[in-house]
Amino acid sequence: MDINMFHIPLTHYKCSWWEQKKQRLLRHIDTLDMVQGDEQVLSDYRGDNNYINDISDILHDELSWFAHDYNCDPRIVRAWYERALPYMYHPTHNHGHGGYSAVLYIEYNSKYHRPTNFIAPYDHFITGEQLTYEPEVEEGDLILFPSFLHHYTHPHTSEQRRTVLSFNLTVNMDNIPLSWTDNKPSHMG
Ligand SMILES: [Fe+2]
Repeated sequence: MDINMFHIPLTHYKCSWWEQKKQRLLRHIDTLDMVQGDEQVLSDYRGDNNYINDISDILHDELSWFAHDYNCDPRIVRAWYERALPYMYHPTHNHGHGGYSAVLYIEYNSKYHRPTNFIAPYDHFITGEQLTYEPEVEEGDLILFPSFLHHYTHPHTSEQRRTVLSFNLTVNMDNIPLSWTDNKPSHMG
């Protein structure tokens, strides 16, 4: 008998009313100071980021899908945008141990861009190779994953900019979705 001892969830939604949401998010980005700072991409990560309520409102449908699928009460606790121009990339990092994190692909063309790549917290047990996972995404897709999971982006090679929204999500401590392995998301992209 062989069982899979561990499971790392990745939730994948296709946003409802995407064109409207995209325009709203792009208008919002235009009001922000997107700087490189100590990051390798343009971002407002070090800014005020005082727009959690706006993002929660824009993504109301998707957050309610997540609440339903995992029987929890998700709340965005921090949000920021990232934009990559040629040669920019995001080195390996994680978002701490506080719950879930998310990436929403706002300006993304799978012909020219690559998605977030994830690194397993353990290596291949025979070869020792690093295990990575690259989800298939397109513009308007939202992926959610455990915050502790290391991830990165490849260097950006296209003239077409790539823009994402990132956010961290906490769930109510009374209903942490331990049942995720049995509970298949119903809005899977
Ligand atoms: Fe990240």
